[in-house]
Amino acid sequence: MSPADPTDDPREGPVLVVDFGAQYAQLIARRVREAHVYSEIVPHTATAAELAARRPAGIILSGGPKSVNETPAPSIDPAVYELGVPILGICYGAQLLTQQLGGVVDRTGRGEYGRTPLTVTGSSPLFSDWPESCEVWMSHGDAITGVPAGFVATATSPDAPVAALHDPDRGIFGVQFHPEVVHTEHGRDLLERFLYDICHCPPSWTHTSIIESQVAAVRAQVGTSPVLCALSGGVDSAVAAALVHKAIGEQLTCVYVDTGLMRANESEQVEETFRRQFHIDLVHVKAADRFFEALAGVTDPETKRKIIGELFIRIFEEVARDLVVEKGHLADDGEAPDDEPAGYLVQGTLYPDVIESGSGTAATIKSHHNVGGLPEDLAFDLVEPLRLLFKDEVRAVGEELGLPHEIVWRQPFPGPGLAVRIVGEVTAERAEILRAADAIVVEEVRRAGLYRDLWQSFAVLPAVRTVGVMGDGRTYAYPVVIRAVTSDDAMTADWARLPYDLLERLSSRIINEVEGVNRVALDITSKPPGTIEWE
Ligand code: XMP
Repeated sequence: MSPADPTDDPREGPVLVVDFGAQYAQLIARRVREAHVYSEIVPHTATAAELAARRPAGIILSGGPKSVNETPAPSIDPAVYELGVPILGICYGAQLLTQQLGGVVDRTGRGEYGRTPLTVTGSSPLFSDWPESCEVWMSHGDAITGVPAGFVATATSPDAPVAALHDPDRGIFGVQFHPEVVHTEHGRDLLERFLYDICHCPPSWTHTSIIESQVAAVRAQVGTSPVLCALSGGVDSAVAAALVHKAIGEQLTCVYVDTGLMRANESEQVEETFRRQFHIDLVHVKAADRFFEALAGVTDPETKRKIIGELFIRIFEEVARDLVVEKGHLADDGEAPDDEPAGYLVQGTLYPDVIESGSGTAATIKSHHNVGGLPEDLAFDLVEPLRLLFKDEVRAVGEELGLPHEIVWRQPFPGPGLAVRIVGEVTAERAEILRAADAIVVEEVRRAGLYRDLWQSFAVLPAVRTVGVMGDGRTYAYPVVIRAVTSDDAMTADWARLPYDLLERLSSRIINEVEGVNRVALDITSKPPGTIEWE
């Protein structure tokens, strides 16, 4: 358990959201946190004793992709119903608890999908804020047709005879609909009733409390050791650095490696924010020449990524060793004393990465999310102040810490930078062309008010040239491709339907203002089959 884990306090155990293998669990956990109650996701294979050991204030059984009547269907240790902890089953979770406690779940042949009218038929503390009828979001093929002993049915819908049920004595509740989905009217009220009135959770998980607990945790973890943080210009490393700096001030050194493949003004903004605004000790390594030299003549996408990743590690290592030797925690031979780490390395690992890594405790770092990964042999321990947070919480914490909007709300940017958007050889000249075109895309998308609605919007530089005519003469220059996508998680994406007038401005500005470009095209490929980046 990390020292930052709020469950260290026996009075405020988390609300545990049991994952049955669908995306629902994350959304429920986020909704609980939006109600200012700390929640964590646990696998359905956890035993009742393991859940009890977390001293949960409540347990939510989430939806799932299967039917409880399939074999095998994911289940839960039935001893959870005897723990005396309030339980709320949602959709699959409601059907599972019904079946495990002796009720009936039937394949009625009439499912409900999407907006569905619901009628409240009985009194339930979950429905204290609800009108008698309203619209909810359903997604079920099976239906609960018989409630277990001790339960009462409290709501119904056209094809769900029992759309809500509860056992008042044991504090076990089930709803067939999805209160976590925005299309369910009063869904938020229902979750709040469960959290506040039934689980008696105080609404104390606020951004201020997150910052306070993480500041204390970082201080306790690192003592007086030096701490390093690689800043990338992205949201996660920026928020992690600001948080750690609040905790330990001058013990933190940030390293920003300018690879020559950053977006326009990115380096200036990092300097401005971290050195001038936050007074953080910032080592700004200007390494563009080294990167372009290493990339000369290379056109294979994977080889490019590898070269960039390895060079980044080498440069980071050089700086890290110098710094740690300087601060007295390594001997001149670069070895750490046996009994203590040379120092700490800040990582911007987020909660979804922790969940994906399976154990909920592993510090697995996906190389895809870093510039080729960071050196393993530096004898550094990891500090991960964001490992309990979802992306929206990271952004809110960033704002609360005073980071500028442009950093906090920045669209994702790949570790290898513009290189994955320059098809063919990456040279300083081609990077400059792309950077200038990209800056226009960002500026115009912002001006159109679409920047936050799009997952990513950027320019790509293909490796072909085409003929054009400008003024009196023919040109032979590069096209620029505009790539803009909507997405929730980058696993799938749709091409964004940008307004024509925005496209027109992009086309005319890019061709007029960026030398070396004579044509603009639009990428209308979704993912799959395309990827978001071009390489
Ligand atoms: P693709 O192109 O695979 O990208 O659809 C999915 C998401 O990941 C980002 N991306 C990267 N991020 N290092 C990173 O840190 C990388 O090498 C890398 N490649 C792609 C991409 O921008 C998108 O958000």
